[in-house]
Amino acid sequence: LAKVEVDMAAIPEGKNLVIQWRGKPIFVRHRTADEIAEANTINIEELRHKETDSERVKDPEWLVMLGVCTHLGCVPIGEAGEFGGWFCPCHGSHYDISGRIRKGPAPLNLEIPPYEIKEDGKIVIG
Ligand code: FES
Repeated sequence: LAKVEVDMAAIPEGKNLVIQWRGKPIFVRHRTADEIAEANTINIEELRHKETDSERVKDPEWLVMLGVCTHLGCVPIGEAGEFGGWFCPCHGSHYDISGRIRKGPAPLNLEIPPYEIKEDGKIVIG
C-alpha cells in the first residue's frame, strides 16, 4: 500500500498512534499546548541536528515521524526518555517532543515522512 490514512479524530490530545507504512512504523502524536510550547523553547544551537519545531511539522498539534531510530534502526518507545518524547532502548537515544535527538548515539532527528493533512480530518502518509 503506497499511502495510509489516519483519522485525526481517533487520536486524543496527548496521545500517540503507531501505524505501519511501507513496512515501517510511523508515529503520530497529537501534541498538547504545553508540548508545543516546550518544543519551541529550545535553543537550536544546542541541538546535534539543528531543526526548529516548525521545520518538522505542518500543524504544531500534529507530529508525524518515522518510528525508526537514526542510530541503527530500532523502534523507539513513546512517552519515555529524559526529554519528554521517545527513548530508544537499544543503545539509549533520547528524543524530544519534536522527535529531535537530544542524548545518546543517534546522529539525526527522527525522520519526517511525506504526508498531507486533509480538510476532512485525515492525515495521509505517503
Ligand atoms: Fe537506537 Fe542504537 S538503534 S540507540
